[in-house]
Amino acid sequence: MADKPRLWITRRLSDATLERASRDYDTVINHEDTPGTAQDLIAASAEFDAIIPCHSEHFSAEVAAQLDPRLKIIANHSVGVDHCDLPALGARGITVTNTPDVLSDATAELAMLLMLGAARNAVAGDRIVRTGAWDFWSPSFMVGKQVTGARLGIIGMGRVGRAFATKARGFDMKIHYYNRSELSPEAAQGATYHSTLGSLLGVADFLSLHCPATPETTGLMNAERFAMLPDGAVMVNSARGALVDEAALTAALDSGKLMAAGLDCFQTEPGGNPAFAAYDNIFMLPHIGSATTRTRDAMGFRALDNLDAFFAGKTPGDQLV
Ligand code: 8YV
Repeated sequence: MADKPRLWITRRLSDATLERASRDYDTVINHEDTPGTAQDLIAASAEFDAIIPCHSEHFSAEVAAQLDPRLKIIANHSVGVDHCDLPALGARGITVTNTPDVLSDATAELAMLLMLGAARNAVAGDRIVRTGAWDFWSPSFMVGKQVTGARLGIIGMGRVGRAFATKARGFDMKIHYYNRSELSPEAAQGATYHSTLGSLLGVADFLSLHCPATPETTGLMNAERFAMLPDGAVMVNSARGALVDEAALTAALDSGKLMAAGLDCFQTEPGGNPAFAAYDNIFMLPHIGSATTRTRDAMGFRALDNLDAFFAGKTPGDQLV
């Protein structure tokens, strides 16, 4: 097996992925499934030709500078790469890939769950039934905000944003979007383009975030931006916690500017924000957007496809640097 490239898999990926990786590479798997620390990553770079990490392993500029030249490729098991300093890794001659496309539907599906759960009082409703506290009913009890036919604002009309728009059309939502550039009519499918964020926010009775976390988008939803939303809006974040100023979010909920929020992503992960526990109108999930059996297999296979191409001397389909 000495002729096979040495591969380190930092977390417990799907069984099908681990089987294929073990068949085709000299693979070491972190069966303990603990996040790789900076020291783990640096040490691994001297022993492995390739690493498949998740978003839990941080390849900062500081780590990149200390990686051993043996490491040739980081084939991420994620579409988001905010945990990787791409310029620093590129400067070290390390190839970096991600896993776009294959998780768009699963993530959009979860964004829909967040939107519906937030709009229709899922947290309080589940609890009152589950705890046996449901002892009355009234027409004015747990009245939520109707999704069907409402205006939906999407920030970031990439693959996941478009998949979410497709699902939202099933609810007859009026789709508006803000994006770096306007989509072609075929891709937009009738969605209304806004060239400024302020213009989009003004019509977003429901708002869903689908842009990557970059220095430009960090804290994108701050107090000023929440103020631009229609009163009683619902915000959904299935992208990255860094996009939202969490203190501004609770202030917007306190003032009633926001009726509710649905969150799968937090500034601190794992863990979330303890202050959110007091809010029944925040419907929360623990970063499980892509967590379906089918999608996790597809993500693992996509990462391996990128490795296969690289070690066959070709350019991986999802090469970022
Ligand atoms: C996963 C994600 O949580 O792909 C991403 O960017 O955030 C999610 O799919 C994770 O990265 C899986 O490794």
